[in-house]
Amino acid sequence: ILVETRFPSDPSAKGGGVGLITLHRPKALNALCDALFDDLIHAVMAFDHDEDIGCIVITGSTKAFAAGADISEMSKQEFANVYKKNMFSQWADITKTSKPIIAAVNGFALGGGCELAMMCDILLAGSKAQFGQPEINLGVIPGAGGTQRLIRAVGKSKAMEMVLTGNRISAQEAMDAGLVSKVIDSEILVDEAVKMGFTIAEKSGMAVRMAKEAVNVAEEVSLSEGLRFERRMFHALFATKDQKEGMSAFLEKRKPEFTNE
Ligand code: CAA
Repeated sequence: ILVETRFPSDPSAKGGGVGLITLHRPKALNALCDALFDDLIHAVMAFDHDEDIGCIVITGSTKAFAAGADISEMSKQEFANVYKKNMFSQWADITKTSKPIIAAVNGFALGGGCELAMMCDILLAGSKAQFGQPEINLGVIPGAGGTQRLIRAVGKSKAMEMVLTGNRISAQEAMDAGLVSKVIDSEILVDEAVKMGFTIAEKSGMAVRMAKEAVNVAEEVSLSEGLRFERRMFHALFATKDQKEGMSAFLEKRKPEFTNE
């Protein structure tokens, strides 16, 4: 088994469940070989389409979230082949999901592992996590977003330093640089990530999806286009039952019961 999936909740709760995906290739520190990534995408898509699930958590082991793309697989490749199959382009499917994904990163998140974490919507780091883009040591460069998403998260100087030296940064440094939103004790990291998943899953699934879409659009478009997109999404939410329910519940001083419609 390369990927384990689990609902740490009662899946009958409508949309209130959390789908936990654990990368499981311990012998290679979760190096992302093609088979592992295929399983991962399959698991992510299954949860994204599952009405019972409101949020997804991806984690690895305490030693490694993922130590990068699989070097033994890559070492045999030639230009024509990687170019023709557009190597790593399919990894971006992770970013096409409508439900939020939390990366709970313990241990090494290197190369493709760091890039996978950055494709997620919220990054939580275990206290012993280490982030890095060591591709330069292999005579290549990051190929799944390490030169593009990293700079947006940590700014040019730190991104350049990481990409050019291949040096790793600690969980605390990642936190200080804005790459992760929290550093959590390694032992309770996954539980805390799942708890955060439940907090998100109990909101309106419509609002959560649109919030994710709007925040992610900010990385792609100008400020005025982004603000316009945000406003249109905001307007659209007035067509949902959840907006009626959320606002009525507030005024009636009770907990809202969202139906994700
Ligand atoms: N690919 C394939 N196998 C890997 C791997 C990888 N990325 N990372 C680790 N492994 C394997 C090792 O070969 C080793 O296997 P064997 O026991 O069969 O020899 C096993 O995992 C354990 O690794 P180590 O013995 O090296 O463990 P360590 O604790 O001494 O070191 C490490 C850990 C610092 C993470 C080290 O394994 C390492 O540097 N790994 C490579 C990291 C890397 O360069 N990642 C970038 C890959 S390129 C990429 O990701 C491209 C992209 O942009 C998508």
